[in-house]
Amino acid sequence: MNRSATTPAPHVPVMLERCLDALDPQPDTWLADGTFGAGGHTRALLARGARVLAIDQDPHASEHAEALQRDLRTAGVDEPAERFRFVCGNFADLSAHLETVGLRPRGSLHGVLLDLGVSSMQLDEGERGFAFRHEGPLDMRMTEAGPSAADVVNEWSFEDLAAALHRFGEERHSRRLARAIVAERERQPITTTERLVEVLLRAYPGRPGAGRRDHPARRTFQALRIVVNDELGALERGLAAAAEALAVDGRLVVLAYHSLEDRIVKRLLRDRADLEPLTKRPLEASPAEVAANPRARSAKLRGARKLAPEVGA
Ligand SMILES: C[S@@+](CC[C@H](N)C(=O)[O-])C[C@H]1O[C@@H](n2cnc3c(N)ncnc32)[C@H](O)[C@@H]1O
Repeated sequence: MNRSATTPAPHVPVMLERCLDALDPQPDTWLADGTFGAGGHTRALLARGARVLAIDQDPHASEHAEALQRDLRTAGVDEPAERFRFVCGNFADLSAHLETVGLRPRGSLHGVLLDLGVSSMQLDEGERGFAFRHEGPLDMRMTEAGPSAADVVNEWSFEDLAAALHRFGEERHSRRLARAIVAERERQPITTTERLVEVLLRAYPGRPGAGRRDHPARRTFQALRIVVNDELGALERGLAAAAEALAVDGRLVVLAYHSLEDRIVKRLLRDRADLEPLTKRPLEASPAEVAANPRARSAKLRGARKLAPEVGA
């Protein structure tokens, strides 16, 4: 594909070369990019001659998929649908998506990439409500359906809220923050990011800035995002489907951005006898990449190779 014909992607793909090395895409084989976003990783895979089934549950990602389809046509690619397909859906349903595009849910893929979490576009659009640094409605849904973060904050019981902040935000002050949220919502529902941030800042112990590495709202926002999008449940189901979908010698590559995600990936690679880790420890971005793209700071890349079934198994 002619790279100069491509539309610049607003999201800078993380650890791109290392993902490509680990996925080792071969010409004309099918790979799945379960987290298409702005398509940075997909474009690089296509440029290596691979075919890509791209999936993203955010309807906004389809605009980037359409741009990529246009670029393929402009570059004179015969039958673009034979090289690139996009499905707006959850990667947890990978098996069903494979069937939709005529691929077998078992043994048909030579690689699966999951670049977890949110994209820069999602974080930067205040009206999506993902970022504690941007004003907007307290939404955080990657899809347009289901309960929003405002529904969780205003309707969940104190105990459930505190448990979610503890479990999914690994927030030390979960009960204290949940108590402040419940007290505030009794006065008035909390419907915006800035209102929630104010409540958290007021309730957080210690002087603002004093010895704090984290913004006091970061862990609560992480917890709400995970709950609203069932991120860990989707990851468990997506990984299981990916392991089934890989052909022998196919590669699974996952970029995780916090310890809860990384732990799930690590456990899968430890427990599945048919997946051989590519490296003993997760790979991280170089200091130069982190300086150029701060999003890469927390990235941990784990990869694995699908092994042939044991004879007699
Ligand atoms: C970090 S971004 C991916 C960026 C992409 N690699 C690129 O280079 O542009 C993560 C994307 O995955 C999507 N996503 C997160 N969880 C998902 C899930 N369970 N199923 C499908 N898409 C998901 C988000 O909507 C977001 O667009």
